[in-house]
Amino acid sequence: MSRGPRLVVLGRQGAGKGTQAAMLAEHYGVSHLSTGDLFRAAARAGTPFGLEAQRYMDDGNLVPDDIVVGVVEERLLGDGDIERGFVLDGFPRTEPQARELERVLEAHPLDGVIELLVPTEVVLERMEGRRVCEQCGATYHVHSPPRENWTCDVCGGRVVQRDDDTEEAITRRLELYERETRPLTDFYRGRGLLVEVDGVGDPHDVFERVVKAVDRLDDWSQDSW
Ligand code: AP5
Ligand code: MG
Ligand code: ZN
Repeated sequence: MSRGPRLVVLGRQGAGKGTQAAMLAEHYGVSHLSTGDLFRAAARAGTPFGLEAQRYMDDGNLVPDDIVVGVVEERLLGDGDIERGFVLDGFPRTEPQARELERVLEAHPLDGVIELLVPTEVVLERMEGRRVCEQCGATYHVHSPPRENWTCDVCGGRVVQRDDDTEEAITRRLELYERETRPLTDFYRGRGLLVEVDGVGDPHDVFERVVKAVDRLDDWSQDSW
């Protein structure tokens, strides 16, 4: 059986990682793994781990590397995603996380890293208007709401504003992105994996660009597992 691609989607907060990663996962029939969604689900479930993660998230800080790596490793190894392919969204976001990911993937390295390029003024507008499903994490915007009365089209959950979409937390997250995550572009460029894609425009137009970029990556579709 042929496999799907092993991808990382990079981009600053509000760049559309979640939006594009969900479409990519569906298109290629692989899992969409968003660390932010995993943490928000654990926080909602009230697990000790979730409540700890929430303290970092609400202030716009990064959750410590060892916690994040543990969660991602468990998911990737547990579900057979490494062999089938996956789309990582929001991970890695520090260089130590990127090195840990290489360790976890071992003999099944990434096929590509898609960086969504979107200017700051655009991401600010997107985050101000963002609304998410508190059950499944599906993403909406005040200009593209669910069909019925802020009820999720996918699962029927309540669609609300995220706790960290406040002005202070957004500023903090964008600062941290420049400091901690920006260096990953050079890290992946150095490995020949980085592909920059213009993230401005209608989500479906952006998606077309992203799929073209993924389909041009080296022959992942020839592999079987
Ligand atoms: P996370 O949930 O990953 O949040 P983030 O990085 O702040 O990124 P966003 O989800 O804000 O943006 P996005 O790029 O997904 O944009 P979206 O598609 O929603 O992380 C949250 C927190 O968890 C972190 O701050 C940290 O505390 C912790 N965490 C997570 N991972 C971690 C890690 N690896 N290490 C340490 N800590 C970690 O789009 C935004 C809006 O724009 C939406 O409303 C959408 O509908 C709209 N939109 C999308 N595309 C378009 C378009 N083309 N045109 C118009 N509107 C669009
Ligand atoms: Mg997201
Ligand atoms: Zn939902």
